[in-house]
Amino acid sequence: MIYLDNSATTFVKPKEVLRKLNLAVTKCAANPGRSGHKLSIMAASEVESTRQKLAEMFCLESESNVIFTANCSAALNLAILGSVKSGGHVVCTENEHNSVLRPLEHLKAQGKIDYTVARQSKPGGICREDIEKCLRKNTYMVICNHISNVNGDTCDIHAVGELCKEKGLLFLVDGAQSGGHEIINMKKDNISFLALAPHKGFYALQGLGVLLASKPEALSPIIFGGTGTNSLELVQPEILPERFEVGTIATPAIFALSGGIDFVKENFQQLRDHLDDLTTFLHYELSYYPLQIYTTTENAKGVFAFNLPNMHSSEVASLLDEKYGICVRGGYHCAAKKHEALGLLDRGAVRASLSFFTTFSDVQKFILAIKSILRSKKLI
Ligand code: ALA
Repeated sequence: MIYLDNSATTFVKPKEVLRKLNLAVTKCAANPGRSGHKLSIMAASEVESTRQKLAEMFCLESESNVIFTANCSAALNLAILGSVKSGGHVVCTENEHNSVLRPLEHLKAQGKIDYTVARQSKPGGICREDIEKCLRKNTYMVICNHISNVNGDTCDIHAVGELCKEKGLLFLVDGAQSGGHEIINMKKDNISFLALAPHKGFYALQGLGVLLASKPEALSPIIFGGTGTNSLELVQPEILPERFEVGTIATPAIFALSGGIDFVKENFQQLRDHLDDLTTFLHYELSYYPLQIYTTTENAKGVFAFNLPNMHSSEVASLLDEKYGICVRGGYHCAAKKHEALGLLDRGAVRASLSFFTTFSDVQKFILAIKSILRSKKLI
């Protein structure tokens, strides 16, 4: 089996992640922040150190502003629903995942806000001008997907962040596909909220998301309940991060994330170089054949989207799975506007997504499989 679906979730997991996970479930499986015993304190200490590592990596002032959520979609929902300004306007981009588009559409349907989807004027990614022309007098927030999960298009978040600073706007970055792969400096990039998917770029576990908030004062909680603090009070505590973290947190997944951060820090440049080399190789080899390729050569970041002539992407993905033992994702990737922008509403795209553990041999076998399908369809 060859696994090329790492943008859906990474597989294989590095030993740093597995070791921390093992520690969490065999030696430290208590509930952090709920009881005062040694095991609970041990679990809490690893959770707090994971917050510190994240704050340091993304240049966030306080680790208390690192909020653990159920997944990246929940982190984006918290940022969008928690900062809503009635009568206001939001700018997002055509690259957004449905976890941004659907909460915005929900707020619009309730009559609370209006929103504009910025179009990408140049191949490769959203630039400052694309956002600037969508701003209105009542715009209070800009939301940018950093790296598209569909085809790897990459937003110039630094330039958009400068625009947001000049105009006094909140800036939410969806880092689901970039966190762990790109250098993101929340201070220099003027990011108010950064959402992460630890099971992707940090090779950690599903069931955990992160929202890093440099402007937590702009947020209100969207879910309420037990926080392990102020237990006799019926109002949600003000203290961070508990204000936004309700119920038992995903401790084993947070331990795993801690290992994932160590792994990424240790291998950061090799990781980027490896993804760049493999994606470039894939692009170069497949560009000889009659495929439609939707990933630009500049965005060699491990996400590669394409179609075969006259075939639905789901048919190609099923063939790759059943006949060649290769896992990729076909269809629509939960990003309706991106598929519309790429003209793919009729058949979606085949997406091969790579990781640090993908080998050249895996990619070569994938290329051979594509050639074999093309031959069987008499396309070469
Ligand atoms: N958003 C994930 C993907 O791109 C699940 O497949």
